[in-house]
Amino acid sequence: MAKNSYPLPLLFFFLTLIGSSYAGGIAIYWGQNGNEGTLSEACATGKYSYVNIAFLNKFGNGQTPELNLAGHCDPPSGTCTKFSADIKDCQSKGIKVLLSIGGGIGSYSLSSVEDARNVSKFLWNTFLGGKSSSRPLGDAVLDGIDFDIELGSTQNYEHLARFLKNYRVYLGAAPQCPIPDKYLGTALNTGLFDFVWVQFYNNPPCAYANGNITNLVNSWKRWTTTVPAGKIFLGLPAATVAAGSGFIPADVLTSQILPVIKKSPKYGGVMLWSRFYDLQNGYSTSIISSV
Ligand SMILES: *[C@@H]1O[C@H](CO)[C@@H](O)[C@H](O)[C@H]1NC(C)=O
Ligand SMILES: *[C@@H]1O[C@H](CO)[C@@H](O)[C@H](O)[C@H]1NC(C)=O
Repeated sequence: MAKNSYPLPLLFFFLTLIGSSYAGGIAIYWGQNGNEGTLSEACATGKYSYVNIAFLNKFGNGQTPELNLAGHCDPPSGTCTKFSADIKDCQSKGIKVLLSIGGGIGSYSLSSVEDARNVSKFLWNTFLGGKSSSRPLGDAVLDGIDFDIELGSTQNYEHLARFLKNYRVYLGAAPQCPIPDKYLGTALNTGLFDFVWVQFYNNPPCAYANGNITNLVNSWKRWTTTVPAGKIFLGLPAATVAAGSGFIPADVLTSQILPVIKKSPKYGGVMLWSRFYDLQNGYSTSIISSV
């Protein structure tokens, strides 16, 4: 052996650094289609590491908050409490379950810092570790709150994030890919969010289009280097019909895109909209071994 040559283990260590790639998980949205099966069925697939229950689509501005789980159950009459056992079942498999607030249809806004404080208390008592006589998802304690803010006022979400983080729960967010996000930009800059599943769809300037990965990869680099967050996820439609644009064929994702974005230490995995479309299309099954 020549003098000054590196011992074999050290050589492998350097090679690993050069080709360094991080492992991730899949996050899924569940709740907006009655034909997508139960929460337990989704978790039993073994494909998902995070489930966002969607949506609490009415809150703030002094309104009585409302949960909407489409055809799954009727929150006011108490039929959604059956999902308490499902939530615990998912959590027993190590899956983190968050409540997603907001969504594309609803009535929500935060009129003041005081309003944000009230909403944080409501969320804590109704879905997290607090107590309330009215818990639409029963006594299961969710792991955190996901912000999918797409309408209404842009104000005060940073305060809601701060109040919720005081309860030591996980915070997720689903901004659109243009930076800064219109509704969540200020909140994200607090650095309080653990999981940021960026919607890389319906926005051609920062998404995959016509076989071209350039805009997507450039946007990913901006998100992972300029937005302070625990982990960043590549949010995608699980089928072409799940979004207006931005669907990526599974083979393109696994061969051209994941190998590039997994080099970022901020990479957390892939988020899919939604469980219904994933069930139809089998997208998570096609990509899971590469995520
Ligand atoms: C916050 O909650 C308190 C107590 O329920 C209530 O008196 C107050 O009007 C609420 N503030 C807002 C802005 O909704
Ligand atoms: C891909 O998109 C980028 C950015 O819009 C553009 O500069 C480039 O020419 C495109 N590549 C191809 C092969 O069309």
